Amino acid sequence: MADTDLASQIKAALVDVEIPGGADLAGYAGLSEIIVTPGAVAFAISVAPGMEAAFGPARDAAKAVAERLGGARKVMVSLTAEKTNTPKFSHGKATPPGKTRVPGIKRIIAVGSGKGGVGKSTTSVNLALSLASEGLKVGILDADLYGPSVPKLLGLEGRPAMRDDGIFTPHEAFGLKVISIGSMLVPGQAVVWRGPMATSALRQLLRETAWGDLDALVIDLPPGTGDIHIALFQQTIVEGVVIVSTPQDLALIDAQKAVDMLRRMSVPVLGLVENMSYFIAPDTGNRYDIFGSGGAERAAGRLDIPFLGAIPLVMSIRENSDAGVPPVAAMPEGAEAQAYRLIARRLISSVP
Ligand SMILES: Nc1ncnc2c1ncn2[C@@H]1O[C@H](COP(=O)(O)OP(=O)(O)OP(=O)(O)O)[C@@H](O)[C@H]1O
Ligand SMILES: [Mg+2]
Repeated sequence: MADTDLASQIKAALVDVEIPGGADLAGYAGLSEIIVTPGAVAFAISVAPGMEAAFGPARDAAKAVAERLGGARKVMVSLTAEKTNTPKFSHGKATPPGKTRVPGIKRIIAVGSGKGGVGKSTTSVNLALSLASEGLKVGILDADLYGPSVPKLLGLEGRPAMRDDGIFTPHEAFGLKVISIGSMLVPGQAVVWRGPMATSALRQLLRETAWGDLDALVIDLPPGTGDIHIALFQQTIVEGVVIVSTPQDLALIDAQKAVDMLRRMSVPVLGLVENMSYFIAPDTGNRYDIFGSGGAERAAGRLDIPFLGAIPLVMSIRENSDAGVPPVAAMPEGAEAQAYRLIARRLISSVP
């Protein structure tokens, strides 16, 4: 069945779902568009603040309807109260109410940046592999809805399997457990999910995946600071965030914004990684500080966060990444891999 047909069919069936006050959900103004992909059905129900609990049964019933009609598709129905999502916690409060751990996962390390294209995904993947090479059990979650790239970096294709009980079985690559929000999307399709649906997808990937016991889960965040970040940090206890920045000043200013946001949300900043820091000529092996040197390290000092290390700008990082074999796996003893592994070791020693 075409995706749009299924969406209409689900919408029609929601006539049988009663909402508080006796009306039906299909005609309710707070019902979002119904998004159907080959693997998922997603929609959101927006309610007035304080009405979340009253709408709970309608949400459950709507989910059951979508599951009945959606075949094997994973169904995500989020219930959100329409109000501005300003984080409520005050600075310095370690664990605001409502934050919980993900069972089985000892530590969550998110990788973020203020700006796009600075190498977050490349860093996430190689950091995860480096943590694994230190003997840890590691998973990676690609939370970048707008440009999921972890599967490509790890040479993975297809969707993760789903067990009968609706729990995802993560992919495995180079010893890592891997789940990507991208597997919920159709390649090339525009991202039409609204904030609530994206955050609901994140929650399900995080909490409804059979991760097993992990020492660390690395989360590759979208650039900047948006719904995904707020949802993650409001709902989940994370060890902290590693910020990736390039040496150019602009990126560093953006990094500063990211640090400010994390501080406001009481999320620890684990440190700064300077990516594409210096250039190593492939023929001579000489090092060139094309952007000047030490910018990120000085910025880390100014921001009062640890400097975790620098990754060179090298062709092989791009080539190996494009080929789906990350440098840490391709050449574990190579200079690039050593740079990532040094960062991982610093991280391990700073996070007990
Ligand atoms: N140290 C490096 N040396 C050479 N190329 C690199 C390096 N780090 C990343 N790249 C390349 O830069 C490009 C962007 O990297 P990546 O996708 O990791 O960035 P990103 O911050 O995750 O981007 P986005 O914001 O789009 O998610 C990729 O082509 C990647 O292979
Ligand atoms: Mg990325």
